[in-house]
Amino acid sequence: MEKLQAALDKARSSRNEQTVTEEAKPVAPKPEKKANASVVARWAALAPFEVHDKNLAQHRVVTRAASKAATPFDILRTKAILTMRQNGWKRLAITSPMPQSGKSTMACNIALGLGRQRDLRSILFDLDLRDPSLREFFKVQPPHGISEMLTGEVSFEEQALRYGDNVIVSMAQRAESDPTRILLAEETAEKLDEIQAEYEPDLMVFDLPSVLVNDDTRAFLKNADCALIVVRADTTTYSQFEKCQREVAEHTNVLGVVLNAYRHDKRAAETA
Ligand SMILES: Nc1ncnc2c1ncn2[C@@H]1O[C@H](COP(=O)(O)OP(=O)(O)OP(=O)(O)O)[C@@H](O)[C@H]1O
Ligand SMILES: [Mg+2]
Repeated sequence: MEKLQAALDKARSSRNEQTVTEEAKPVAPKPEKKANASVVARWAALAPFEVHDKNLAQHRVVTRAASKAATPFDILRTKAILTMRQNGWKRLAITSPMPQSGKSTMACNIALGLGRQRDLRSILFDLDLRDPSLREFFKVQPPHGISEMLTGEVSFEEQALRYGDNVIVSMAQRAESDPTRILLAEETAEKLDEIQAEYEPDLMVFDLPSVLVNDDTRAFLKNADCALIVVRADTTTYSQFEKCQREVAEHTNVLGVVLNAYRHDKRAAETA
């Protein structure tokens, strides 16, 4: 664990980054220009969905309303927005070295936190197609799956659901057995460009699979402007983190590394 923390510190300082564990004052993002009427109409035309506080809490999604628990995610959200804006980036991938690191939890918390940012429009894509989970996080069954949308069987308007006025979630309906073909396809890249042009989101967030288990994330990363790597303090090893970071950096910009589930034992530190 200490080795991983030290490695994260080193990687961060070499990229001049900060992790979510650091204190930082949230900065209000600058309002973007107003959407034109046809964009507003496209957003309004999407089917809305509701979220349930109990279900969100069970899945550790805490950013629907401002709270102490939401603060680290809000800081991360704001830092991400500011850095992305400075660089002209709109597309954020969320990945990890190995499964069960907290990627989907992070993606949902960022998305609902973005929902509270009234001046920003965001779209969350459920792209861990072998093992999709966003429908469980939000307890909703979409009418069509994201794969059918990306392959052109249904339109984005028919498939995606809207949370509030300013967050869209495009969810999977079921697991795919061969998702690499979809994630790698030029058709997918074109579809994302089309969605971006028609819905003019300020942020597109992609919940991706882990890097070290198969080729899916590698296949998709070319479509992202940058990536957040989620490492889990109690399970990710230093070599997994290093390998993952190298792989991601070959395909896109590493926006930062989030050390998830880090429990600082104050008593142990004091007696050491
Ligand atoms: N900070 C945390 N502390 C404790 N448990 C957590 C934390 N973050 C996530 N979890 C739990 O870990 C499990 C995996 O989380 P999540 O589904 O977000 O990870 P994932 O990286 O998306 O997994 P997968 O690779 O299977 O898609 C869930 O049960 C989640 O509630
Ligand atoms: Mg996941």
